[in-house]
Amino acid sequence: MLPHPATPTPVTVPAKLAEFHAGYPEYVLRDGTPWIRTLPTLAAQFLGRWRLRRAGAPMHGMVALVLPVVRDDGTPAALKLQPLDEESAGEPVALRAWGGDRTVRLLEHDAESGTMLLERLDAERSLDHVEDAEAALTDLSELLAHLVSYPAPAGMRTLADIAAAMLDDVPKALPELSDPADRALLRQCAAAVREVLDEPGDRLLHWDLHYENVLAPPLGSDRGTWLAIDPKPLAGDPGFDLMPALHNRWGDIAATGDVRRAVRRRFDLMTEVVGLDRERAARWTLGRVLQNSLWDVADGEHAVRPDQAAVARALLPR
Ligand SMILES: Nc1ncnc2c1ncn2[C@@H]1O[C@H](COP(=O)(O)OP(=O)(O)OP(=O)(O)O)[C@@H](O)[C@H]1O
Ligand SMILES: [Mg+2]
Repeated sequence: MLPHPATPTPVTVPAKLAEFHAGYPEYVLRDGTPWIRTLPTLAAQFLGRWRLRRAGAPMHGMVALVLPVVRDDGTPAALKLQPLDEESAGEPVALRAWGGDRTVRLLEHDAESGTMLLERLDAERSLDHVEDAEAALTDLSELLAHLVSYPAPAGMRTLADIAAAMLDDVPKALPELSDPADRALLRQCAAAVREVLDEPGDRLLHWDLHYENVLAPPLGSDRGTWLAIDPKPLAGDPGFDLMPALHNRWGDIAATGDVRRAVRRRFDLMTEVVGLDRERAARWTLGRVLQNSLWDVADGEHAVRPDQAAVARALLPR
């Protein structure tokens, strides 16, 4: 066992992560301090509390800081620090429900700050690194099928509530869109959601299963194949879980020269592998276009993003 250093090297927040956070005015603590400014202190606190040694450069996504660490007993782990909100609050709950079955294992959790200690996976090998786009999507879809075979635990936020709140927001969002075609598109998305609102589903959804959120286990481990990280879970219909894999790696879609066909090909593959009713899955995917577009409007945008419009148009009847 290595001695625990008395004064560990201070944690520096990666510049890119600080830049992302400059655009998130919502992540402030009760006393008004932006969460990102508290990050070095928070990290130091948890390195001490959970007796961790730093073991490599900090990693990050759009929101969280993830530090490779080693536990007292020599086990590699990853310390994940992120602001606590209603999305991230569900992450440890879902990881516990899946219990490491095709997901990263949760080793420790602090409910007050939302900080987690996770099993360390191989950050150098994500599904984003698999060049064959169709192979990556097939593996992701098989993983998704497995994850949504679990029922959501009691108390999880629900697609029923989220969808109802989105529909309430539509009337005030529509006038913000400059192009009448975008307004018509969002109306169609809202109509599609209304058609499935009475059957919102009860599965444990990941919500953010994009290619970089699927990692390989460390080489030589007995953990099998691809594992999911970073859920922002909810209880709902698996059709609401397709969007991240449909609109990420957009370059692969654009490169085909036929965006509609390429989107439909991804959608067909996913619904086939996950075993979903296509009509229902299309409606819930239009629900994701609605969700993303409402967020964009709330952020001051006046147009539907081209990739979102392309996904919607590919799934709507011509
Ligand atoms: N358990 C882990 N083991 C190894 N690396 C990890 C682990 N968890 C996260 N990482 C690395 O840190 C990065 C950021 O983590 P994560 O995806 O959880 O954060 P995020 O900010 O919520 O991401 P997103 O941008 O998807 O919202 C991952 O893309 C991965 O490279
Ligand atoms: Mg991530």
